[in-house]
Formats: sequence, structure tokens, C-alpha cells
Amino acid sequence: MKSESSFYHDFVDQELVKKGFTIKLINEDYIATRILDCISFVNGILEEYQNTYNLWTPKPREWFLNPMIRKWEFSLVIEDLKNQIALFNFTSVYGELLHNHCTYVNRNLRGLGLAKLHMLKICQLGLDNGFKKYEGYWDKHNNGSLILHLKMGFMIESFRKNEQLLLVGDLLDIRNKVFNIYEKENSYIIKSDLFDK
Ligand SMILES: CC(C)(COP(=O)(O)OP(=O)(O)OC[C@H]1O[C@@H](n2cnc3c(N)ncnc32)[C@H](O)[C@@H]1OP(=O)(O)O)[C@@H](O)C(=O)NCCC(=O)NCCS
Repeated sequence: MKSESSFYHDFVDQELVKKGFTIKLINEDYIATRILDCISFVNGILEEYQNTYNLWTPKPREWFLNPMIRKWEFSLVIEDLKNQIALFNFTSVYGELLHNHCTYVNRNLRGLGLAKLHMLKICQLGLDNGFKKYEGYWDKHNNGSLILHLKMGFMIESFRKNEQLLLVGDLLDIRNKVFNIYEKENSYIIKSDLFDK
């Protein structure tokens, strides 16, 4: 029998492999070797939305290199089989919470479930490290992503400068909700007794 943690980690890894992707940490080595790809990917998405969201402006090189607090332990990238970036996420630690700085998916790969699988992974990673909550700011006009994250278990905590909503969610609750959503969307029958409680 697997531990609960291995069950969720392996589940995400296996689902991504089925779709032709892998997930890994963005650590210091990754950012050092792939900095130009990271800048190009993130700033490409920010440019895509620069006329939609007021605060989505290109990020300088320093933003990518800044380790913040434990950023290299919780930031994840999903790559395709040619090591092209499919999903890019920066997450760091704000006090007792994990804080999401960005989650962007390549425009041609949206709707494949990559954000949900990433969410499962980050929740389990947070739980493994003793964290309970995940938070982030969303542009108030980003309806698609706001709805997706509310469905995944986040709740609106506050409103900042009339521009952004602060969403906060319980890692365990989000993980379980996302797993159920993913299971339904993919018509899987996954028995909860596959792992030790
Ligand atoms: C929001 C985003 C990260 C979701 O990633 P994803 O891998 O496409 O999401 P999944 O495939 O796991 O889930 C699809 C859901 O995302 C929703 N969604 C939100 N924004 C979307 C977008 N711009 N394009 C496509 N789907 C989007 C879909 O409605 C769908 O909802 P459903 O599951 O109820 O049908 C991705 O669409 C994206 O990068 N959007 C542009 C940047 C952005 O808004 N990032 C989030 C703010 S940090």
C-alpha cells in the first residue's frame, strides 16, 4: 500500500505522462539553465493579456532570479516531451501560507487539465511540508481563472486597490476537491482505499 502522499504525487506524475508531460521543481539550477525560456514564456503570456489586465506587465530578469522565501522548493514547471514549457508557476512562502505568484499555461495547451494536475501536486507538496493554506491575488476581471479557482476550493478573502481579489484555500480541501473534479471529468473510478490513511 502507498502512503497518501505518494498516491497523489504518483497520480499527478502518471496522468501527466499519459498526456505527454512531466512536472518538476523550478529550483536554482533550472532557473539558471532555462532563464531565457522562462522569461520568454512568462512575458509572452503577460503580453497576450497586457490590454486585458492593468497589472499584467512584463517581468524583469530579477523577478525570475529572486529566491524570495523558499521559492525554489514550491515552484513547479510542466514540460512537454521536448522540454518546452507548458505550465509555469512561482510559489513562495508568506509567513505560514504558501503564496501563488503566477500560474500560466501555454495558450495552445489550455483546457487539458494541466492547471488542475499542478494544483494537486502543489497541494500535496505543501501538505508534505506542514502547510495548511494557499493564497494568491487574481485580477478582478480574470473570470475564467477566478471561477476555476473558486471551484477548486479557494474563497475570496479581500479586495486590493480595486484591482485584485485575494483568494485563500485550505490545501487539504483543495486537493480533495480537485481530485474529485478530475476524477469526474475523466470518468475514472479511483478507490480511496488505494492508500494507507
Ligand atoms: C487559467 C489557466 C491557468 C487554467 O489552466 P488550464 O490548464 O487551461 O486549466 P485546466 O485545463 O486544468 O482547467 C480548465 C478550466 O480552466 C478554465 N479557464 C480559465 N481561464 C481559461 C483560459 N484563458 N483559457 C482556457 N480555459 C480557461 C476553463 O474554463 C476550464 O474550466 P472547467 O474545468 O470548469 O471547464 C490557463 O487557462 C491560463 O494560463 N490562462 C491565462 C493566464 C491566467 O489567467 N492565469 C491565471 C492567473 S495567475
